[in-house]
Amino acid sequence: MNVYDSELVGGQLEKLGYKHTKKIDSADLIFLNTCSIREKAEETVHNKLENLHYLKKRNPKLLIGVLGCMAQNLKNEILESKPYVDIVLGPDSYRKIFDILQFRKTQNGSIVDTKLSKFEVYNDLFPSRHKGINAWISIMRGCDKFCTFCIVPFTRGRERSRTVNEIIKEAEKAVDDGFVEITLLGQNVNSYFTPEGDFSYLLERVAKIKGIKRIRYTSPHPQDINQELLKVMAKYENICNYIHLPLQSGSDRILKRMNRTYTSKEFLSLVDLIKKYMPNCSISTDIIVGFPGETEEEFNDTLKVVDKVQFNFAYMFKYSSRPGTKASQYTDQIDENTKQMRLEKLIEHQRKNSLMANRKQIGKIEKVLIEKDSKKSEHFWSGRTEGNIWTVIKKTDENIKDIVPVLINDAQGVTLFGEKIKNREENYEIN
Ligand code: 5AD
Ligand code: SF4
Repeated sequence: MNVYDSELVGGQLEKLGYKHTKKIDSADLIFLNTCSIREKAEETVHNKLENLHYLKKRNPKLLIGVLGCMAQNLKNEILESKPYVDIVLGPDSYRKIFDILQFRKTQNGSIVDTKLSKFEVYNDLFPSRHKGINAWISIMRGCDKFCTFCIVPFTRGRERSRTVNEIIKEAEKAVDDGFVEITLLGQNVNSYFTPEGDFSYLLERVAKIKGIKRIRYTSPHPQDINQELLKVMAKYENICNYIHLPLQSGSDRILKRMNRTYTSKEFLSLVDLIKKYMPNCSISTDIIVGFPGETEEEFNDTLKVVDKVQFNFAYMFKYSSRPGTKASQYTDQIDENTKQMRLEKLIEHQRKNSLMANRKQIGKIEKVLIEKDSKKSEHFWSGRTEGNIWTVIKKTDENIKDIVPVLINDAQGVTLFGEKIKNREENYEIN
């Protein structure tokens, strides 16, 4: 989402005549787009701002801006402790960049705009994308789920969806610009809703656009995955058989405390349903360890669900208390040591599961979208399977952006290795 927002702001700045530079020393304007989801993300921004302060001392004309969730969340703290920051803009204020930069030419002092909007979805602002394979397209913004650990509903505001036509227009433009993969984005992507239709309707419309080789979406909430969506996913060849399905915890008491609205049993049934529609569907997840009050037994419940589902991939986090959220007020916070130990244990389980899931692919044929030279050597390509797993293959006559059938012959860590096959042979199982 933040990459998309940066591209959106980049598009605005280009219209104003600014050019992107990789040489930070020569920049006239530096915007940091920030995330508040965990404390560590905020620390990184604080450190980066300290570095930018040095640049500003050398070049007093340099303008420094803070965008996004931290701007929303910590505007007062930023203004008090970092007076050299010129501009603070929340995630719904990017349209005002033109006026703000004009104003700043004549006036000194910091400019702050962090008002959240019930309506802003940035229709008709095209992002400036760097050339590549995948184009991110934001389809909805905000979140109304209020998981008790999460700052997003406070920093990003209420849920609102873009119109189907605007999204289709943006996707068609991305195809014209040479992108072959589209990832639909939203804090809560599958609660997308407009009078014209819901998320499954939108996904089907996008799948019908000519020239899109692959479609992904992130991040859905398990509660809003329905059979209609799974039917559409199974029906269209260009919608990847891949779902990112955040579990967060395998303990029912903790899930309830997190306000996640499903039990571990319901989550497991959903996994079964997904596999019923798409037997080869890859599933990845997000998990938090050390949520307030989590006992050793409850943490073990998470390990059990993780081992049962055998996720292809997982993003794993230590719970990070976010001021203002409900969970930050719970008095039974878990100490850092315990959180660290649980995280390491979970990572070890998941490492084995990922490897096992990848090993199951050996002997199968995967469709790989060629994306770039492999780090291994210039004679090899790197590309991703439908299930989002990086795969290394020897170069033959294919090109970047081609989708090629690859016979998987090895799995190491989180990477697959294989060779392109000329014709699909009947005795191989095709994914
Ligand atoms: N602490 C740790 N992880 C968090 N996430 C969201 N909020 C927190 C928090 N306070 C994780 C969730 C979410 C992912 C994007 O970030 O797992 O799905
Ligand atoms: Fe945060 Fe996702 Fe929960 Fe929304 S659904 S509150 S974005 S974790």
